[in-house]
Amino acid sequence: MLVFLIGYMGAGKSSVGEEIAKSMGYRFLDTDLWIEARCCKTIPQIFNELGETYFRTKEKECLEFLIDQENLVIATGGGMPCFNHLMDLMNEMGETVYLNASEETLLKRLDSDFQNRPLLNPVDGSPNLNTVISSHLEKRTAFYTAAKHSFLVDDKTILKVSQEIKNYFDSISPTETSL
Ligand code: S3P
Repeated sequence: MLVFLIGYMGAGKSSVGEEIAKSMGYRFLDTDLWIEARCCKTIPQIFNELGETYFRTKEKECLEFLIDQENLVIATGGGMPCFNHLMDLMNEMGETVYLNASEETLLKRLDSDFQNRPLLNPVDGSPNLNTVISSHLEKRTAFYTAAKHSFLVDDKTILKVSQEIKNYFDSISPTETSL
């Protein structure tokens, strides 16, 4: 089974993903890290030097690379489900899990952690973080809510969210999860 964690930046996809993978005995992959290794560049370098469209094609390439894989938890980049029909592809490939964080939670988390996220980095005259997050969520929520499963993450520790997701997968039958 492939388990895709999706959701906005700061929702906790990478930390939760690593934890779930450990508890399920699955391998873990972070799509941003895969792309960085593939391009030998950091995400900010890719955005600055090659552009967002190039980055989105790499996200697609990463998904295509995963098609034959088994027993893997994947933390996706926050924009991945919203471009090139990748949400549909992920739904075809496996179980998609939306980590749903409120705008307030995201703002709190990202306020001190936006430096390595090119889409949140302020340039002269750009709107404040609050406005950027709101405007992204307005466009992206429809993609995120197309996930097969959804978990609220506000006020919960990484461990708590991971256990909820693991327990949920344990509780549903293999036929339902196409194991
Ligand atoms: C992005 C999210 C980032 C990274 C890139 C673009 C986005 O990943 O893929 O900066 O469009 O939301 P995280 O969600 O892991 O921060």
